[in-house]
Amino acid sequence: MSRVVVVGGGGREHALAWGLARDAQVVVTPGNDGIAAHGITCSPEPATALEADLVVVGPEAPLVAGLADELRARGVPVVGPGADGARLEGSKAYLKEFLAAAGVATAAHGTFADEAAARAHLAAMAPPYVIKTDGLAAGKGVLVTSSRAEAEADVADKLAGRSFGEAGRTVVIEEGLTGVECSLMLLCDGERTVSLTPAQDFKRVGDGDRGANTGGMGAFAPLALPDDTLARVEREIVAPTLAELHRRAIDYRGVLYAGLMLTAQGPKLLEYNVRFGDPETQVLVPLVREDLLDLLAATAAGRLTPAPVARRGAAVTVVLAAPGYPEAPVAGGRITGLGPDGQLAEPLEGVVVFHAGTRRDADGAFVSAGGRVLSVTAHADTVAAARARAYEAVARIEVPGAIWRRDIAAGAS
Ligand code: AMP
Ligand code: GLY
Repeated sequence: MSRVVVVGGGGREHALAWGLARDAQVVVTPGNDGIAAHGITCSPEPATALEADLVVVGPEAPLVAGLADELRARGVPVVGPGADGARLEGSKAYLKEFLAAAGVATAAHGTFADEAAARAHLAAMAPPYVIKTDGLAAGKGVLVTSSRAEAEADVADKLAGRSFGEAGRTVVIEEGLTGVECSLMLLCDGERTVSLTPAQDFKRVGDGDRGANTGGMGAFAPLALPDDTLARVEREIVAPTLAELHRRAIDYRGVLYAGLMLTAQGPKLLEYNVRFGDPETQVLVPLVREDLLDLLAATAAGRLTPAPVARRGAAVTVVLAAPGYPEAPVAGGRITGLGPDGQLAEPLEGVVVFHAGTRRDADGAFVSAGGRVLSVTAHADTVAAARARAYEAVARIEVPGAIWRRDIAAGAS
């Protein structure tokens, strides 16, 4: 049986490990107490010290720091690009330059390190204002606002390093795009891409897409798209991106996650992430679990078959986050409704509870230990059935003071 190491310790890694454990011996580093309780081995050893036939890197930061390069240099197949490919996510300014060179449609923008120039740009543009940190900010570095005063204050805080440290010392200011958002994850083996099921993420903290941007408060898949949309994305976004990667001699093997805005003028790229989405992965894995190991092994080995991936049913995940998330999450508090394996004490068909930020205290009870605490996922025949099941599961769990959205997948068919 092949040995797979999954790097990371959140809900996404729990989902990947759970999916892969069907066909492989899985170790998660560092993992978390909820993953371990689910019968999956967790190890504090770094990935470079673990025996592996395949390593799947969950978060972006180690990819940007070159973990995949280090592993490949040792001959280990990896799902995740090297530091060169990871710049697509590591620097928004680089991404914008890359997209311009590739000819991929994206929001018009300016890049600024100087506050006066940034203010002048804001004054000359029409609202809404979209302000992004150049560097990594765990999905929280983006402000979308129609208030110029708020935009100016945000720019000042970011450039001064007050809100996001070094990551904010350069900002990208974009025009606001409107339309349907779609998370499309593609596997890329350096030469070919295979697109996975389109998903939708709910990024704002509050119902009705109000409040701050978060890492993601819930997701569902599949997202039904008009027939020609995927073909257009393939032609106008994916193909030119692959060509540009080749021009830059980047051997990209991993997940290319396209954050798309489907606008009235056609699909535009908001961002690339260089790894699986969180929480999109929690709804994707149940749909492709049977093929997951083969797909990831083929991605790392450069031998993907460019055929559609079969998928089974639909899935919805609802994130339970700590009170105060995302600005100032408060950890702590005993979670009720879970059994010793971290799953629902009273099981519901098709439901898996993925642990993002939990730990077990001395007497074995789960306590909340992070911003996003649990990602409660249901798999069923339709999105509507999965949604009902997911919320039924959420009602059986109590994380003290937790916040969650009531409208995940509410409008989905
Ligand atoms: P990003 O990290 O670049 O994907 O941005 C996070 C979220 O901010 C996106 O998922 C969108 O909801 C929103 N966003 C980013 N860029 C824009 C834009 N140009 N226009 C409107 N919304 C945006
Ligand atoms: N759910 C958005 C992300 O993973 O970046």
